[in-house]
Amino acid sequence: QDVRLWGGRFADGPSEALEKLSASVHFDWRLAPYDIAGSRAHARVLHKAGLLTAEELRQMTGGLDQLERDVADGTFTGTIADEDVHTALERGLLERLGPDLGGKLRAGRSRNDQVATLFRMYLRDHARILGGLLADLQEALVGLAEAHPDVAMPGRTHLQHAQPVLFAHHVLAHAQALSRDAERLRQWDARTAVSPYGSGALAGSSLGLDPQAVAADLGFEHGSSANSIDGTASRDFVAEFAFITAMTGVDVSKIAEEIILWNTKEFSFVTLHDAFSTGSSIMPQKKNPDIAELARGKSGRLIGNLTGLLATLKALPLAYNRDLQEDKEPVFDSCDQLEMLLPAFTGMLATLTVHRDRLAELAPAGFSLATDIAEWLVRQGVPFRVAHEVAGECVKACERDGIELDELTDEQFAAISPHLGPQVREVLTVPGALASRDGRGGTAPAAVAVQLAEVRKDLAEQ
Ligand code: ARG
Repeated sequence: QDVRLWGGRFADGPSEALEKLSASVHFDWRLAPYDIAGSRAHARVLHKAGLLTAEELRQMTGGLDQLERDVADGTFTGTIADEDVHTALERGLLERLGPDLGGKLRAGRSRNDQVATLFRMYLRDHARILGGLLADLQEALVGLAEAHPDVAMPGRTHLQHAQPVLFAHHVLAHAQALSRDAERLRQWDARTAVSPYGSGALAGSSLGLDPQAVAADLGFEHGSSANSIDGTASRDFVAEFAFITAMTGVDVSKIAEEIILWNTKEFSFVTLHDAFSTGSSIMPQKKNPDIAELARGKSGRLIGNLTGLLATLKALPLAYNRDLQEDKEPVFDSCDQLEMLLPAFTGMLATLTVHRDRLAELAPAGFSLATDIAEWLVRQGVPFRVAHEVAGECVKACERDGIELDELTDEQFAAISPHLGPQVREVLTVPGALASRDGRGGTAPAAVAVQLAEVRKDLAEQ
């Protein structure tokens, strides 16, 4: 028996080369449980429309249940001759129910509306999985902030020492980015909660089927597609998903890059746990931050999946075109990679040791309190232009003598500017500098505590 769903008008079967090119069953097989769920919902609307008797519906549902079990335990699998998961499962159903009943299910549906629906269902499930993994990662970051609420570190711009900040403040900046990624996933999910089932090949169905009933049955909260052409041909939900995963990868890669730097001998800010680092086959002393490096590398791959997909979609005419079969592998890969990466990355963060003394020691280095001198002068009524100059003179003097700002004598301060009384020393400490930045979002311990509480609340609600 010909397994093809379209053999009728063909005198010859497909060439081997075509069969090989055309097959997607080796990668779309993961849609099988969704395909079967879609078939169950479809059988019910066929019954509602009077196209299946109650008894036929009962047998059809039984056949689909059996098929589902056989798929789950591997008794039934698709082959290359099946072309795709939809064809394979129809063969499975025909084998279980015989051609008369099995052959009725395809009425009023097309692989075009099927695949668009199943793909949404699959990605929505994985959006939830990724959301959970992202929450775990945020939890690890928040845990780091909570474990070290009071330790200062050098805040950097251009990778140069800029101003001291709280370590917790820095870590929470990453948590903020990830919380936006998680929010993107939730917003994407709401937009994707629309079912294309019932769109048919492109024009809808003449059989009086109820697409809204199928949508409700399959958990699409926002009903069925308003336009059957759009329902079968649009893939912006895939591109947007690919963007969110790429953005998440990029956000993770930024943490990764810092971990790699912080874990060097020169920085010595953190030490990674043995269970989350690797060795070298030749250099016995090596302990490498491979998880962070793989995170950095995989972000490139996630970006590639997004750009490849957009290139596939560009300039496609309406409605379904076979090009669209290329939409699945890149995002399946993005799901697989992130779902593998995030737990390892979270484990690495949750187990690393923070060298608080080293962070604190470097916090004031590199004249990072120069801004505090300038702002102190402003509070004395000195115009900022002048204050900036004066603070710059202080840095110049320190550089010349090889000392830090707080090592300038009262005489040296006075010689640089008459405005620089000895009281300027009160801002030349890291705690003083931190505490003074107490506005919303600032690095003062009190402000960071507020932020931490907000992030905690946000995580609990997520
Ligand atoms: N396997 C196809 C895909 O993934 C769905 C089948 C639609 N094929 C067709 N010739 N209309 O896009």
